[in-house]
Amino acid sequence: MTEAETGRILGSVGFGWVGDQRVAEVGYWLRRDARGRGLTTRALHLISRWALDELDCARLQLRADVLNLPSQRVAEKAGFTREGVLRSVAFNPRQDRRVDFVMFSLLPGELELPG
Ligand SMILES: CC(C)(COP(=O)(O)OP(=O)(O)OC[C@H]1O[C@@H](n2cnc3c(N)ncnc32)[C@H](O)[C@@H]1OP(=O)(O)O)[C@@H](O)C(=O)NCCC(=O)NCCS
Repeated sequence: MTEAETGRILGSVGFGWVGDQRVAEVGYWLRRDARGRGLTTRALHLISRWALDELDCARLQLRADVLNLPSQRVAEKAGFTREGVLRSVAFNPRQDRRVDFVMFSLLPGELELPG
């Protein structure tokens, strides 16, 4: 994600395949001074459409820390379905704690225009 006028990098949505069953995962971040304007939701929507329509992805998933409410809100606004919580599935070395992740997914045919 870049600022149109200046080309300054504002953030990123990453995409990667998980295994060989046409399952992929996305993740995102945005600079603090660009947050709260719907940019990540818009970018996630565009990446999701590309993955499902162009790449023949069968399942697009994303994981958000249960404590990360903005990230979960972005997933919901982009049309992802909350599936459940993966308890103690990762370790965050910066915070020195184990992390529970909320698992979200989006399947072909579920993509809507963001509201
Ligand atoms: C998560 C992140 C990418 C969101 O980017 P963004 O461009 O600000 O997201 P959007 O503006 O599209 O949407 C943010 C939503 O979260 C909501 N939100 C923000 N802070 C919140 C909080 N503390 N509790 C609940 N909701 C919150 C906003 O109100 C908004 O929802 P709304 O449109 O219904 O009002 C950004 O906060 C970020 O980079 N965080 C650090 C990195 C990170 O956590 N990445 C995700 C890892 S899974």
